[in-house]
Amino acid sequence: MADTEQSWLTNPARRKALARLAGLMAGTPIAAAMAQSDPRPLSRHHRALSLAEMQTAFDFEPVFFGNVTLPVYDYTAHGDGSEFTLRRNRQAFDWVDITPARPAVPASQVDLSSELLGVKMKFPIIVAPSASMRALHPDGEIGMFKAATAASNTLMMLSINSSMPVNQVAPASPGGTLWAQFYPLENRAATQRSMDVLQTAGCNGIIVTIDQQASYYERSQQDRNLGGRVARASGPGAGGGTAALTGSERYRITGERLWYTWQYIDDVRKMVKGPLLLKGILDPEDAKLAVEHGADAIIVSNHGGRSMDYGPSTLEVLPEIVAAVNGRIPVLFDSGVRRGGDIFKALALGANAVMLGRTARWGLGAFGTAGAQRLIEIMQQELVQTSAAAGCAKLPDINRTTVKAHFV
Ligand code: FNR
Repeated sequence: MADTEQSWLTNPARRKALARLAGLMAGTPIAAAMAQSDPRPLSRHHRALSLAEMQTAFDFEPVFFGNVTLPVYDYTAHGDGSEFTLRRNRQAFDWVDITPARPAVPASQVDLSSELLGVKMKFPIIVAPSASMRALHPDGEIGMFKAATAASNTLMMLSINSSMPVNQVAPASPGGTLWAQFYPLENRAATQRSMDVLQTAGCNGIIVTIDQQASYYERSQQDRNLGGRVARASGPGAGGGTAALTGSERYRITGERLWYTWQYIDDVRKMVKGPLLLKGILDPEDAKLAVEHGADAIIVSNHGGRSMDYGPSTLEVLPEIVAAVNGRIPVLFDSGVRRGGDIFKALALGANAVMLGRTARWGLGAFGTAGAQRLIEIMQQELVQTSAAAGCAKLPDINRTTVKAHFV
Protein backbone atom coordinates (compact mmCIF):
# COMPACT_ATOMS: atom_id res chain seq x y z
CA MET A 1 0.00 0.00 0.00
CA ALA A 2 1.37 3.37 -0.95
CA ASP A 3 2.22 5.82 1.79
CA THR A 4 -0.55 8.19 0.83
CA GLU A 5 -3.19 5.41 1.04
CA GLN A 6 -1.73 4.25 4.36
CA SER A 7 -2.03 7.70 5.86
CA TRP A 8 -5.58 8.06 4.49
CA LEU A 9 -6.66 4.97 6.43
CA THR A 10 -5.89 6.60 9.75
CA ASN A 11 -6.44 10.18 8.74
CA PRO A 12 -9.14 12.07 10.73
CA ALA A 13 -10.33 13.55 7.43
CA ARG A 14 -11.34 10.02 6.34
CA ARG A 15 -13.46 9.64 9.42
CA LYS A 16 -15.16 12.93 8.66
CA ALA A 17 -15.77 11.84 5.09
CA LEU A 18 -17.25 8.54 6.25
CA ALA A 19 -19.46 10.30 8.77
CA ARG A 20 -20.73 12.62 6.01
CA LEU A 21 -21.41 9.62 3.75
CA ALA A 22 -23.30 7.87 6.54
CA GLY A 23 -25.39 11.00 7.07
CA LEU A 24 -26.13 11.19 3.36
CA MET A 25 -27.13 7.54 3.22
CA ALA A 26 -29.35 7.82 6.28
CA GLY A 27 -31.21 10.64 4.60
CA THR A 28 -31.89 8.84 1.33
CA PRO A 29 -35.30 7.25 0.78
CA ILE A 30 -33.62 3.95 -0.10
CA ALA A 31 -31.96 3.64 3.28
CA ALA A 32 -35.10 4.77 5.05
CA ALA A 33 -37.14 2.13 3.28
CA MET A 34 -34.63 -0.55 4.25
CA ALA A 35 -34.63 0.59 7.84
CA GLN A 36 -38.40 0.50 8.06
CA SER A 37 -38.66 -3.05 6.85
CA ASP A 38 -36.66 -4.39 9.75
CA PRO A 39 -37.85 -6.88 10.90
CA ARG A 40 -38.47 -7.97 7.36
CA PRO A 41 -42.04 -8.98 6.48
CA LEU A 42 -42.53 -12.73 6.39
CA SER A 43 -43.50 -12.57 2.74
CA ARG A 44 -39.83 -12.07 1.82
CA HIS A 45 -38.71 -15.18 3.67
CA HIS A 46 -38.52 -18.56 1.95
CA ARG A 47 -39.43 -20.62 4.99
CA ALA A 48 -43.10 -20.52 5.90
CA LEU A 49 -43.42 -20.29 9.65
CA SER A 50 -45.39 -22.82 11.64
CA LEU A 51 -48.47 -22.12 13.71
CA ALA A 52 -46.42 -22.09 16.91
CA GLU A 53 -44.28 -19.28 15.50
CA MET A 54 -47.14 -16.88 14.80
CA GLN A 55 -46.72 -13.75 16.93
CA THR A 56 -49.08 -11.16 15.51
CA ALA A 57 -52.06 -11.15 13.15
CA PHE A 58 -49.78 -9.88 10.39
CA ASP A 59 -47.74 -13.11 10.52
CA PHE A 60 -50.73 -15.09 9.29
CA GLU A 61 -51.39 -13.14 6.12
CA PRO A 62 -48.38 -14.29 4.06
CA VAL A 63 -49.00 -17.89 5.10
CA PHE A 64 -52.62 -17.54 3.99
CA PHE A 65 -51.40 -15.92 0.75
CA GLY A 66 -49.14 -18.90 0.12
CA ASN A 67 -51.97 -21.39 0.65
CA VAL A 68 -54.61 -20.10 -1.76
CA THR A 69 -55.03 -19.07 -5.38
CA LEU A 70 -54.72 -15.40 -6.26
CA PRO A 71 -58.46 -14.73 -6.77
CA VAL A 72 -59.18 -16.19 -3.32
CA TYR A 73 -56.50 -14.02 -1.74
CA ASP A 74 -57.65 -10.94 -3.67
CA TYR A 75 -61.24 -11.41 -2.63
CA THR A 76 -60.23 -11.13 1.02
CA ALA A 77 -57.55 -8.48 0.64
CA HIS A 78 -59.07 -5.82 -1.55
CA GLY A 79 -61.47 -2.94 -1.18
CA ASP A 80 -63.61 -0.74 -3.36
CA GLY A 81 -62.29 1.68 -5.98
CA SER A 82 -58.94 3.31 -5.24
CA GLU A 83 -58.95 1.63 -1.83
CA PHE A 84 -58.65 5.00 -0.10
CA THR A 85 -61.12 3.98 2.61
CA LEU A 86 -59.37 0.63 3.01
CA ARG A 87 -56.11 2.46 3.75
CA ARG A 88 -57.77 5.16 5.80
CA ASN A 89 -59.33 2.56 8.10
CA ARG A 90 -55.82 1.51 9.06
CA GLN A 91 -54.27 4.96 9.12
CA ALA A 92 -56.89 6.33 11.51
CA PHE A 93 -55.54 4.05 14.25
CA ASP A 94 -52.14 5.78 13.93
CA TRP A 95 -53.76 9.05 14.97
CA VAL A 96 -54.96 7.85 18.33
CA ASP A 97 -52.39 7.90 21.12
CA ILE A 98 -52.73 5.61 24.09
CA THR A 99 -52.01 7.43 27.35
CA PRO A 100 -49.35 5.61 29.35
CA ALA A 101 -50.48 4.10 32.62
CA ARG A 102 -50.86 5.90 35.90
CA PRO A 103 -49.81 3.28 37.12
CA ALA A 104 -49.80 0.13 34.98
CA VAL A 105 -51.70 -2.88 36.31
CA PRO A 106 -50.36 -6.45 36.15
CA ALA A 107 -51.74 -8.25 33.08
CA SER A 108 -52.93 -11.05 35.40
CA GLN A 109 -55.34 -8.58 37.02
CA VAL A 110 -56.96 -7.47 33.78
CA ASP A 111 -60.53 -8.75 33.43
CA LEU A 112 -62.30 -7.49 30.30
CA SER A 113 -65.43 -9.57 30.63
CA SER A 114 -68.81 -8.07 29.82
CA GLU A 115 -72.28 -9.01 28.66
CA LEU A 116 -73.63 -8.09 25.24
CA LEU A 117 -77.37 -8.49 24.67
CA GLY A 118 -77.51 -11.51 26.94
CA VAL A 119 -74.26 -13.10 25.75
CA LYS A 120 -71.47 -13.35 28.30
CA MET A 121 -68.14 -12.39 26.77
CA LYS A 122 -64.71 -12.91 28.30
CA PHE A 123 -63.24 -10.42 25.83
CA PRO A 124 -65.09 -7.70 23.87
CA ILE A 125 -64.12 -9.35 20.58
CA ILE A 126 -66.43 -10.89 17.96
CA VAL A 127 -65.84 -12.68 14.65
CA ALA A 128 -67.44 -10.51 11.92
CA PRO A 129 -69.59 -12.11 9.23
CA SER A 130 -67.65 -12.79 6.06
CA ALA A 131 -68.48 -14.91 3.06
CA SER A 132 -67.19 -18.14 1.50
CA MET A 133 -64.80 -19.46 4.14
CA ARG A 134 -64.41 -22.88 2.54
CA ALA A 135 -62.39 -21.17 -0.19
CA LEU A 136 -59.90 -20.19 2.53
CA HIS A 137 -59.61 -23.63 4.10
CA PRO A 138 -61.63 -26.87 3.97
CA ASP A 139 -62.56 -26.31 7.65
CA GLY A 140 -64.70 -23.40 6.41
CA GLU A 141 -67.33 -21.76 8.61
CA ILE A 142 -67.56 -24.82 10.88
CA GLY A 143 -63.84 -24.47 11.59
CA MET A 144 -64.19 -20.76 12.25
CA PHE A 145 -67.07 -21.35 14.66
CA LYS A 146 -65.16 -24.08 16.52
CA ALA A 147 -62.13 -21.77 16.71
CA ALA A 148 -64.19 -18.88 18.05
CA THR A 149 -65.80 -21.08 20.70
CA ALA A 150 -62.44 -22.57 21.71
CA ALA A 151 -61.01 -19.05 22.10
CA SER A 152 -62.88 -18.25 25.34
CA ASN A 153 -66.35 -18.54 23.82
CA THR A 154 -66.00 -15.77 21.27
CA LEU A 155 -69.29 -14.85 19.60
CA MET A 156 -69.33 -15.46 15.84
CA MET A 157 -71.59 -13.90 13.23
CA LEU A 158 -72.23 -16.15 10.23
CA SER A 159 -72.53 -14.54 6.78
CA ILE A 160 -75.65 -15.17 4.71
CA ASN A 161 -73.15 -16.07 1.99
CA SER A 162 -71.68 -18.85 4.09
CA SER A 163 -70.20 -21.70 2.07
CA MET A 164 -71.63 -24.16 4.62
CA PRO A 165 -75.34 -24.31 5.54
CA VAL A 166 -76.32 -22.64 8.79
CA ASN A 167 -78.02 -25.80 10.08
CA GLN A 168 -74.68 -27.60 9.84
CA VAL A 169 -72.55 -24.79 11.26
CA ALA A 170 -74.76 -23.99 14.28
CA PRO A 171 -74.66 -27.43 15.94
CA ALA A 172 -70.96 -27.97 15.12
CA SER A 173 -69.66 -26.22 18.21
CA PRO A 174 -71.77 -26.97 21.29
CA GLY A 175 -71.64 -24.23 23.87
CA GLY A 176 -70.71 -21.58 21.31
CA THR A 177 -72.86 -18.64 20.26
CA LEU A 178 -73.64 -18.15 16.58
CA TRP A 179 -75.57 -15.17 15.29
CA ALA A 180 -76.45 -14.72 11.63
CA GLN A 181 -76.05 -11.86 9.17
CA PHE A 182 -78.21 -11.22 6.17
CA TYR A 183 -78.71 -8.64 3.40
CA PRO A 184 -82.06 -6.87 2.88
CA LEU A 185 -84.33 -8.51 0.34
CA GLU A 186 -87.20 -6.37 -0.87
CA ASN A 187 -89.42 -9.44 -1.01
CA ARG A 188 -90.89 -9.82 2.51
CA ALA A 189 -91.87 -13.47 2.05
CA ALA A 190 -88.31 -14.33 1.03
CA THR A 191 -87.03 -12.32 4.01
CA GLN A 192 -89.33 -14.24 6.33
CA ARG A 193 -88.11 -17.55 4.88
CA SER A 194 -84.47 -16.54 5.52
CA MET A 195 -85.32 -15.49 9.07
CA ASP A 196 -87.07 -18.79 9.72
CA VAL A 197 -84.08 -20.80 8.48
CA LEU A 198 -81.58 -18.76 10.53
CA GLN A 199 -83.61 -18.69 13.73
CA THR A 200 -84.66 -22.34 13.52
CA ALA A 201 -80.99 -23.26 13.17
CA GLY A 202 -80.41 -21.59 16.54
CA CYS A 203 -79.12 -18.16 15.55
CA ASN A 204 -80.68 -15.94 18.16
CA GLY A 205 -79.16 -12.62 17.07
CA ILE A 206 -79.76 -11.35 13.52
CA ILE A 207 -77.53 -8.79 11.83
CA VAL A 208 -78.94 -6.85 8.88
CA THR A 209 -76.15 -5.36 6.81
CA ILE A 210 -77.32 -2.08 5.33
CA ASP A 211 -74.16 -0.72 3.78
CA GLN A 212 -73.89 -0.77 0.06
CA GLN A 213 -72.03 -3.93 -0.61
CA ALA A 214 -72.16 -3.50 -4.35
CA SER A 215 -68.47 -3.05 -4.82
CA TYR A 216 -66.66 -4.82 -7.52
CA TYR A 217 -63.03 -5.62 -7.33
CA GLU A 218 -61.01 -4.41 -10.25
CA ARG A 219 -58.60 -7.25 -9.75
CA SER A 220 -61.36 -9.78 -10.33
CA GLN A 221 -62.01 -8.12 -13.67
CA GLN A 222 -58.35 -8.54 -14.49
CA ASP A 223 -58.53 -12.20 -13.56
CA ARG A 224 -61.35 -12.57 -16.03
CA ASN A 225 -59.63 -10.60 -18.76
CA LEU A 226 -56.49 -12.62 -18.30
CA GLY A 227 -58.39 -15.86 -18.79
CA GLY A 228 -59.22 -16.60 -15.17
CA ARG A 229 -62.60 -17.28 -13.66
CA VAL A 230 -65.79 -15.83 -15.03
CA ALA A 231 -67.79 -14.24 -12.26
CA ARG A 232 -70.80 -12.05 -11.82
CA ALA A 233 -70.16 -8.50 -10.72
CA SER A 234 -71.36 -8.82 -7.16
CA GLY A 235 -71.07 -12.53 -6.50
CA PRO A 236 -69.28 -13.64 -3.39
CA GLY A 237 -65.94 -13.41 -5.18
CA ALA A 238 -63.99 -16.49 -4.31
CA GLY A 239 -66.85 -18.79 -5.19
CA GLY A 240 -67.55 -17.09 -8.49
CA GLY A 241 -70.44 -17.76 -10.82
CA THR A 242 -70.51 -18.69 -14.45
CA ALA A 243 -72.88 -16.16 -16.00
CA ALA A 244 -71.42 -13.64 -18.46
CA LEU A 245 -71.91 -10.00 -17.57
CA THR A 246 -74.60 -8.12 -19.45
CA GLY A 247 -76.05 -4.59 -19.50
CA SER A 248 -74.79 -2.11 -16.93
CA GLU A 249 -73.05 -4.87 -14.97
CA ARG A 250 -70.35 -4.75 -17.63
CA TYR A 251 -69.53 -1.28 -16.31
CA ARG A 252 -69.44 -2.30 -12.65
CA ILE A 253 -72.93 -1.01 -11.94
CA THR A 254 -75.29 -3.39 -10.23
CA GLY A 255 -78.57 -2.95 -8.40
CA GLU A 256 -77.83 -5.74 -5.96
CA ARG A 257 -77.57 -4.98 -2.25
CA LEU A 258 -78.13 -1.27 -2.71
CA TRP A 259 -81.54 -1.27 -1.14
CA TYR A 260 -83.16 -0.93 2.27
CA THR A 261 -85.79 1.32 3.83
CA TRP A 262 -86.65 2.06 7.45
CA GLN A 263 -90.09 0.53 6.82
CA TYR A 264 -88.26 -2.65 5.86
CA ILE A 265 -86.30 -2.56 9.12
CA ASP A 266 -89.62 -2.21 11.00
CA ASP A 267 -90.92 -5.28 9.17
CA VAL A 268 -87.77 -7.28 9.91
CA ARG A 269 -87.93 -6.21 13.54
CA LYS A 270 -91.23 -8.10 13.83
CA MET A 271 -89.69 -11.24 12.30
CA VAL A 272 -86.70 -11.34 14.65
CA LYS A 273 -87.38 -12.82 18.08
CA GLY A 274 -83.97 -12.08 19.60
CA PRO A 275 -81.58 -9.16 19.19
CA LEU A 276 -81.61 -7.27 15.88
CA LEU A 277 -78.39 -5.50 14.89
CA LEU A 278 -77.86 -3.07 12.02
CA LYS A 279 -74.43 -3.25 10.42
CA GLY A 280 -72.92 -0.50 8.29
CA ILE A 281 -73.76 2.66 10.25
CA LEU A 282 -71.41 5.59 9.56
CA ASP A 283 -73.57 8.57 10.40
CA PRO A 284 -75.01 9.82 13.72
CA GLU A 285 -78.43 10.51 12.18
CA ASP A 286 -78.65 6.93 10.92
CA ALA A 287 -77.60 5.73 14.36
CA LYS A 288 -80.50 7.65 15.94
CA LEU A 289 -82.92 6.25 13.36
CA ALA A 290 -81.63 2.75 14.08
CA VAL A 291 -82.47 3.20 17.77
CA GLU A 292 -85.91 4.59 16.90
CA HIS A 293 -86.64 1.66 14.61
CA GLY A 294 -85.92 -0.90 17.28
CA ALA A 295 -82.34 -1.99 16.65
CA ASP A 296 -80.85 -3.63 19.74
CA ALA A 297 -77.32 -2.66 18.68
CA ILE A 298 -75.58 -1.03 15.76
CA ILE A 299 -72.31 -1.88 14.10
CA VAL A 300 -70.16 1.04 12.97
CA SER A 301 -68.66 -0.48 9.83
CA ASN A 302 -67.72 0.39 6.27
CA HIS A 303 -67.43 -3.26 5.35
CA GLY A 304 -63.66 -3.06 5.66
CA GLY A 305 -63.42 -0.47 2.87
CA ARG A 306 -65.32 -2.76 0.52
CA SER A 307 -68.63 -0.95 0.22
CA MET A 308 -68.07 2.61 -0.98
CA ASP A 309 -64.68 4.20 -1.51
CA TYR A 310 -64.04 7.69 -0.09
CA GLY A 311 -66.39 7.13 2.81
CA PRO A 312 -64.88 7.95 6.21
CA SER A 313 -62.84 5.53 8.28
CA THR A 314 -64.92 3.94 11.01
CA LEU A 315 -62.64 5.11 13.83
CA GLU A 316 -63.09 8.75 12.82
CA VAL A 317 -66.90 8.62 12.97
CA LEU A 318 -67.13 6.37 16.03
CA PRO A 319 -67.10 9.15 18.69
CA GLU A 320 -69.92 11.17 17.11
CA ILE A 321 -72.03 8.04 16.67
CA VAL A 322 -71.43 6.99 20.27
CA ALA A 323 -72.52 10.48 21.34
CA ALA A 324 -75.70 10.26 19.23
CA VAL A 325 -76.63 6.84 20.63
CA ASN A 326 -75.93 8.13 24.12
CA GLY A 327 -75.82 4.73 25.81
CA ARG A 328 -79.28 3.65 24.64
CA ILE A 329 -77.98 0.56 22.81
CA PRO A 330 -74.54 -1.06 22.41
CA VAL A 331 -72.31 0.23 19.62
CA LEU A 332 -70.11 -2.38 17.96
CA PHE A 333 -67.21 -1.55 15.69
CA ASP A 334 -65.20 -3.02 12.83
CA SER A 335 -63.02 -2.22 9.78
CA GLY A 336 -59.25 -2.11 9.88
CA VAL A 337 -58.69 -3.88 13.21
CA ARG A 338 -55.39 -5.75 13.11
CA ARG A 339 -53.92 -5.49 16.63
CA GLY A 340 -55.04 -5.60 20.24
CA GLY A 341 -54.03 -1.94 20.46
CA ASP A 342 -56.54 -1.14 17.70
CA ILE A 343 -59.27 -2.85 19.71
CA PHE A 344 -58.26 -0.84 22.77
CA LYS A 345 -58.53 2.42 20.83
CA ALA A 346 -62.01 1.61 19.49
CA LEU A 347 -63.17 0.64 23.00
CA ALA A 348 -61.71 3.86 24.40
CA LEU A 349 -63.61 5.89 21.80
CA GLY A 350 -66.85 4.30 22.92
CA ALA A 351 -67.32 0.91 21.22
CA ASN A 352 -68.79 -1.85 23.40
CA ALA A 353 -67.17 -4.62 21.37
CA VAL A 354 -64.95 -4.92 18.31
CA MET A 355 -65.23 -7.30 15.37
CA LEU A 356 -62.54 -9.07 13.35
CA GLY A 357 -63.08 -9.35 9.60
CA ARG A 358 -60.00 -10.02 7.50
CA THR A 359 -57.78 -10.99 10.42
CA ALA A 360 -60.05 -13.91 11.34
CA ARG A 361 -59.90 -14.98 7.69
CA TRP A 362 -56.10 -14.82 7.69
CA GLY A 363 -56.04 -17.17 10.69
CA LEU A 364 -58.37 -19.69 9.07
CA GLY A 365 -56.68 -19.42 5.67
CA ALA A 366 -53.22 -19.93 7.16
CA PHE A 367 -53.80 -22.88 9.50
CA GLY A 368 -57.50 -23.80 9.47
CA THR A 369 -59.40 -24.07 12.76
CA ALA A 370 -56.25 -24.03 14.91
CA GLY A 371 -55.00 -20.91 13.10
CA ALA A 372 -58.24 -19.01 13.58
CA GLN A 373 -58.26 -19.92 17.27
CA ARG A 374 -54.69 -18.83 17.73
CA LEU A 375 -55.28 -15.58 15.90
CA ILE A 376 -58.26 -14.68 18.09
CA GLU A 377 -56.21 -15.56 21.18
CA ILE A 378 -53.34 -13.35 20.03
CA MET A 379 -55.75 -10.44 19.66
CA GLN A 380 -57.17 -11.13 23.11
CA GLN A 381 -53.71 -11.25 24.68
CA GLU A 382 -52.57 -8.10 22.90
CA LEU A 383 -55.67 -6.34 24.18
CA VAL A 384 -54.93 -7.50 27.73
CA GLN A 385 -51.32 -6.36 27.39
CA THR A 386 -52.33 -2.92 26.12
CA SER A 387 -54.96 -2.56 28.84
CA ALA A 388 -52.40 -3.48 31.50
CA ALA A 389 -49.89 -0.98 30.16
CA ALA A 390 -52.59 1.71 30.05
CA GLY A 391 -53.60 0.98 33.63
CA CYS A 392 -57.03 -0.48 32.81
CA ALA A 393 -58.06 -3.49 34.90
CA LYS A 394 -61.70 -3.56 33.75
CA LEU A 395 -63.59 -2.73 30.59
CA PRO A 396 -65.13 0.53 31.90
CA ASP A 397 -61.60 1.76 32.68
CA ILE A 398 -60.96 1.84 28.92
CA ASN A 399 -62.53 5.20 28.22
CA ARG A 400 -61.81 8.58 26.64
CA THR A 401 -59.27 9.46 29.33
CA THR A 402 -57.01 6.62 28.16
CA VAL A 403 -56.51 7.91 24.61
CA LYS A 404 -55.93 11.10 22.70
CA ALA A 405 -57.46 11.16 19.24
CA HIS A 406 -55.98 13.69 16.86
CA PHE A 407 -59.06 13.85 14.67
CA VAL A 408 -61.75 14.74 17.24
C1 FNR B 1 -66.81 -9.21 4.39
N1 FNR B 1 -67.78 -8.55 5.12
C2 FNR B 1 -69.09 -9.01 5.10
N2 FNR B 1 -70.04 -8.39 5.84
C3 FNR B 1 -71.31 -8.84 5.86
O1 FNR B 1 -72.15 -8.28 6.54
N3 FNR B 1 -71.65 -9.95 5.10
C4 FNR B 1 -70.75 -10.61 4.33
O2 FNR B 1 -71.09 -11.60 3.68
C5 FNR B 1 -69.42 -10.11 4.30
N4 FNR B 1 -68.47 -10.72 3.52
C6 FNR B 1 -67.18 -10.30 3.56
C7 FNR B 1 -66.21 -10.96 2.82
C8 FNR B 1 -64.89 -10.57 2.93
C9 FNR B 1 -63.85 -11.28 2.12
C10 FNR B 1 -64.51 -9.51 3.77
C11 FNR B 1 -63.08 -9.09 3.93
C12 FNR B 1 -65.47 -8.85 4.49
C13 FNR B 1 -67.44 -7.39 5.98
C14 FNR B 1 -67.05 -7.83 7.37
O3 FNR B 1 -68.13 -8.27 8.12
C15 FNR B 1 -66.40 -6.68 8.14
O4 FNR B 1 -67.27 -5.58 8.17
C16 FNR B 1 -65.07 -6.23 7.55
O5 FNR B 1 -64.31 -7.33 7.15
C17 FNR B 1 -64.31 -5.42 8.58
O6 FNR B 1 -63.13 -4.91 8.06
P1 FNR B 1 -61.69 -5.61 8.23
O7 FNR B 1 -61.59 -6.07 9.65
O8 FNR B 1 -61.68 -6.76 7.28
O9 FNR B 1 -60.74 -4.54 7.85
